[in-house]
Amino acid sequence: MRSFSGRDILSLKGFEREEYYRIFEVCDRLAPFARDRRNTDLLSEKTLVTAFYQPSTRTRLAHEAAMIRLGGQVTGFADAKMTRAGDYYQESIKDTVKMLEFYGDVIVMRHFEQGAPHEAAKWASIPIINGGDGWGEHPTQILTDLYTVHQEKGRLDGLRWLAVGDMRMRTMHSLAYGLTQFDCPITFVSPPEMSLTDEFKEELELLSLDFAEAEHVEQAISEADVILVEPVVQPDYTKSRDERDGDVGLTPANYKITRELLSGKAKSDAILLHSLPRMDEIPPDVDATRWSRYWLEAFNGVVMRMGLLASVLGAME
Ligand code: CP
Repeated sequence: MRSFSGRDILSLKGFEREEYYRIFEVCDRLAPFARDRRNTDLLSEKTLVTAFYQPSTRTRLAHEAAMIRLGGQVTGFADAKMTRAGDYYQESIKDTVKMLEFYGDVIVMRHFEQGAPHEAAKWASIPIINGGDGWGEHPTQILTDLYTVHQEKGRLDGLRWLAVGDMRMRTMHSLAYGLTQFDCPITFVSPPEMSLTDEFKEELELLSLDFAEAEHVEQAISEADVILVEPVVQPDYTKSRDERDGDVGLTPANYKITRELLSGKAKSDAILLHSLPRMDEIPPDVDATRWSRYWLEAFNGVVMRMGLLASVLGAME
């Protein structure tokens, strides 16, 4: 297995089966600190730099919370407009990370341009973690989700997935790559204009993912062990910021998971994930049902970032 020490976390493409289990093991060892709200000094001599060119609640703050739990320091920016990358100068990724690498030991970057963290990794002498790049990928979110499923179900192989939402989403790309390493058939349900591209489907076939597409959640929900939902009413992820402009519309029934649907059609022990934020695709009355796991997913978001930071900074090998 490749070492995690010093490694960039840019994509789940090429992330190998045993590497998932290794990172889950590290997370299991660190989880008690987060669960008991205790800090440790594992990374007391390290600093995390956050470089967020797009809004975020969970990804940025979960990385920061993880670093603080591990005793490290945090610096960075949450709004590129307040830096030279977002003002008159439009400073390049190269010039920016050639500075940031002197301010800390690992950089987590979110960017509206697909591939920006990969560009950063070409120039930085410290690890880059992709916190979401345009429509590209969101590897740390899907690592969190796979960890949550493994924890709840005790396994990944043999579970059938249903993914609902906008298949252009970065989470969906990381999910598809991730599931190629496991025996996990998946059905994708999305509006036609948000479906998987032919090019990506060809790639998934080459990677031997067992996948199908359906038009309505009702066609696939009864067989699913894991239901992962993302919005279909959402901003343009290729923009640095997309303000809400009037009425944004409602989610059609095809892409909505309601309490009634779960009660009537879902497996009794299926689990429901949503990386959040949500619109109306999962109404709040689903929160207190036996299917929902998104608050656990949110907690595990901190644990997974603890595991990743400790690993790429070489503290847990
Ligand atoms: N799930 C997720 O990426 O949330 P944020 O956009 O708030 O980081």
